[in-house]
Amino acid sequence: MSASVPGDYVIRSIRADEWPAVKELRLRALRDPLAHLAYLETYDDAAARPDSYWRERAALGADGAAGARQFVAEVPGGMWLGTLTVLVEDAGTKDWAGFPVERRQGHVVGVFVRPEWRGSGLTKALFDAGLEWAWANGLERMRLIVHPDNERAQGAYRKAGFAPSGRTVPLAGPGPGEVELEFVLER
Ligand SMILES: CC(C)(COP(=O)(O)OP(=O)(O)OC[C@H]1O[C@@H](n2cnc3c(N)ncnc32)[C@H](O)[C@@H]1OP(=O)(O)O)[C@@H](O)C(=O)NCCC(=O)NCCS
Repeated sequence: MSASVPGDYVIRSIRADEWPAVKELRLRALRDPLAHLAYLETYDDAAARPDSYWRERAALGADGAAGARQFVAEVPGGMWLGTLTVLVEDAGTKDWAGFPVERRQGHVVGVFVRPEWRGSGLTKALFDAGLEWAWANGLERMRLIVHPDNERAQGAYRKAGFAPSGRTVPLAGPGPGEVELEFVLER
C-alpha cells in the first residue's frame, strides 16, 4: 500500500526492549533540516551516547512506566513512522526551566514524523493517542514548547487542539533573548 495512505499503521506505546528503534528514530529526527529549531540536542551529541542511555530512555517511556509514555506509529511488524513522548509534570514541582508546575500536567516532547508521512493525518493520530493516555491517567492539562519559526509544527499542534498560552520560555544555550512559545490544551 502507498505510504501516503492514512490508516496504514498502528499507534502504540513502546516496549523497553525496543531501545534500538528508539535510537534509530531519534537520530533520524536529529538529521531533519529543522532539527536545530525542533530539538534541544544535536545529532552528534545523541549519536555519541552509549547504549545504556538508549536503554534507560526507552525504559522510562515504555508501557508500564509511570512518569512518561512514548508513542510510535508503526507499519505493523515494520518501520516506525513517527513518535511523540508525554512527560508527566507533577503539581508542586519545578519544570526544567525552573518555573513552578501548578497542576498535574503532561508535557509533549520529541515530536517527529518521517517526511513522507507528513500531512497524512498521522501526527494528529499520535496526538490523539497521547491525549487519550494523558486524560486516562489523570493529567489535567497538556503543554508543549515550540520555536516561533517552526510554523509547520505550530500548525500541527493547533490541529491537535493546542493554542498559545501567551507564555514564552527562554531558550537554553548561547543565543541571548531567544524564546520559545508555550502551547496548551486544557482537558
Ligand atoms: C512537526 C511535525 C511533527 C508536524 O507533522 P505534519 O504531519 O508535518 O503536520 P500536519 O501536516 O498534519 O500539520 C501542519 C499544518 O501546518 C500547516 N503548515 C505547514 N507549513 C506551514 C507554515 N510554514 N506556516 C503555517 N502553516 C503551515 C500545514 O498546511 C498543516 O495544516 P493543514 O493540514 O490545515 O494544511 C512534522 O512536520 C515534523 O516531524 N517536523 C520535523 C520535526 C519538528 O519540527 N518537530 C516538532 C518539534 S516542536
